[in-house]
Amino acid sequence: MRLDKYLAEMSYGTRNEVKKIIRSGSVTINGVPAFKPETKVNELSDIVYIGDKRISYSQYVYYMLNKPAGCVSATKDNMHKTVIDLLKENIGNNTRDDIFPAGRLDIDTEGLVLLTNNGALAHMLLSPRRHVDKAYYIVAEGIITDEGIKQLTEGIDIGDSTLTLPAQAENIKLCSIGELSKDIQDIIKSKYNENSSQIPAGKIYTSMELVLHEGRYHQVKRMIEAAGSKVLYLKRIRMGTLWLDGTLLPGECRELSAKEARQLENII
Ligand code: URA
Repeated sequence: MRLDKYLAEMSYGTRNEVKKIIRSGSVTINGVPAFKPETKVNELSDIVYIGDKRISYSQYVYYMLNKPAGCVSATKDNMHKTVIDLLKENIGNNTRDDIFPAGRLDIDTEGLVLLTNNGALAHMLLSPRRHVDKAYYIVAEGIITDEGIKQLTEGIDIGDSTLTLPAQAENIKLCSIGELSKDIQDIIKSKYNENSSQIPAGKIYTSMELVLHEGRYHQVKRMIEAAGSKVLYLKRIRMGTLWLDGTLLPGECRELSAKEARQLENII
């Protein structure tokens, strides 16, 4: 690959910035100064330095994003902010151009989105045959009955040709709006206002964590509806071994640690 591409992908500047660095003569390949941005470098075997700093090439990159509501899980969109726009806001514009979201969340869903350029890993995470767990935190309207919970955990009819696979429903709690976090209260209130209705006093909500082993279209919302309720707030908190970092605010992202990346790669 070209030397300027190599350095830009390793985040040493934009393509124009790294061209200037190369022309200044401070970049060497196998000990020989390279002055031309178009010089070819073998990313697997060549040894590249800027000054006395070795610049190793890593093929794959991984970021976790806490996706906020209102942002779409796409690389480009004319109407809405995308997860890639947010990545650039967090880590700067000179990100690699081959990064994409591994799986989608609905526009109003928050939480964990993995951004990577590892297509094989994304395929494994999403493959219907691999059943990689996805865990969601849900706040639903009213009380989900014991029969509703039983159906969620045994398999429920959401209008497809087959029932959903059994899911785990954990930490099931009944609560009032005041017991939810301020951010979630605001989201729920805005949903009622959209429909120009007020939240009735004394209304009860069900919160829970639901672990799915498949990923059908709008699956959580359809399962909760089939169980007799309606999702008012939805957040993905885990994909396989990867947990959403609780310190990331909506809209923030960070690179995966080497351990998190290695654990995810183990599924390939
Ligand atoms: N299930 C849904 O209904 N929506 C999502 O965004 C993710 C899972």
